[in-house]
Amino acid sequence: MTPKDPLLVDCDTGIDDALALLYLLGDPDVDLRAVTAVFGNTDAGTAAENTLRVLELAGRPDIPVAVGARSNWRGTVHLAPHVHGHDGLGGTGLPAPARSPGTEPAAELIVRLARENPGKLHVLAIGPLTNLATALLLEPELPELVGHVTIMGGAVHHPGNVTPAAEANVHNDPEAARMVLRAGWDVTLVPLDVTMNEVLTEQHWHRLRTGGTAIARFAAEILKHYLDVYQRDVFGVRCAACHDPLAAAIAAGDVSPVLAPKVTVDVDTGDGPARGSTIADTRGRHRGFPDQDGARVRVVLQTDGTFADRLVERLGGAADRSLDVA
Ligand code: RIB
Ligand code: CA
Repeated sequence: MTPKDPLLVDCDTGIDDALALLYLLGDPDVDLRAVTAVFGNTDAGTAAENTLRVLELAGRPDIPVAVGARSNWRGTVHLAPHVHGHDGLGGTGLPAPARSPGTEPAAELIVRLARENPGKLHVLAIGPLTNLATALLLEPELPELVGHVTIMGGAVHHPGNVTPAAEANVHNDPEAARMVLRAGWDVTLVPLDVTMNEVLTEQHWHRLRTGGTAIARFAAEILKHYLDVYQRDVFGVRCAACHDPLAAAIAAGDVSPVLAPKVTVDVDTGDGPARGSTIADTRGRHRGFPDQDGARVRVVLQTDGTFADRLVERLGGAADRSLDVA
């Protein structure tokens, strides 16, 4: 995306979604036009309310928020209170937002913004892909109207984080993910392969806690919960993955992938153990990963591992004193 291209974020706010929104809102060159909410980390209504809270905290109550899908296309709902807390924000107990979400449904808002900005709109999808797939059904020309789609989702060579094969955003609605990845628009896919390698640590938490701004303090509060969960369930040490913030930074052009070939990507929609897995054609790996003819999905397979520092700096974290010399 060029700095001033209009951006729409579709998310299931969620701890890392909140950090991603705050990261984007901290850049005056990012033109965030709307946020659409979907079920996932929490129910769609709570995700919309959390989004409103984050926008108020960042001083942007002007940005429209819409509620979208409350379940996937099969009518099932998987939520993640064990990861994001009962309120989706680590049980931080923020006050209710001052305003309510708009009445326009999320998929309709996506279509309207795409029509109003033909060839320009960048969609950053960091939750299950149900809203985006519904928008594709509403407007078959959407792939021509949208400039670019960046998705946090999938696991290519990395294990899944919900099942051995499936990453959460794809697992929550494999049919929708398949439709979005096959729609014939330009997509950047940011899978677990890279988001699990860009990690926030206890030191980052400390920098945020002592950062002195309301945004830094809020980020520290939600990150504390996230670090507890990742230590307990994933890494065994105090590190937490930067899933959605990394996708946001790639969408904004702040992180340039080290390796990101254009390859075909499909999703397993069967009912076996591979349901929700992302199958990317990475057979070119021994030939330097040439882009595949006709492929429209760029799969990010490697970043440089330094993003968390920049995230913390953007969110108002205190300077890193560990680099000072005596
Ligand atoms: O698998 C990680 C993704 O699932 C992130 O987007 C997280 O917020 C959850 O939605
Ligand atoms: Ca998310």
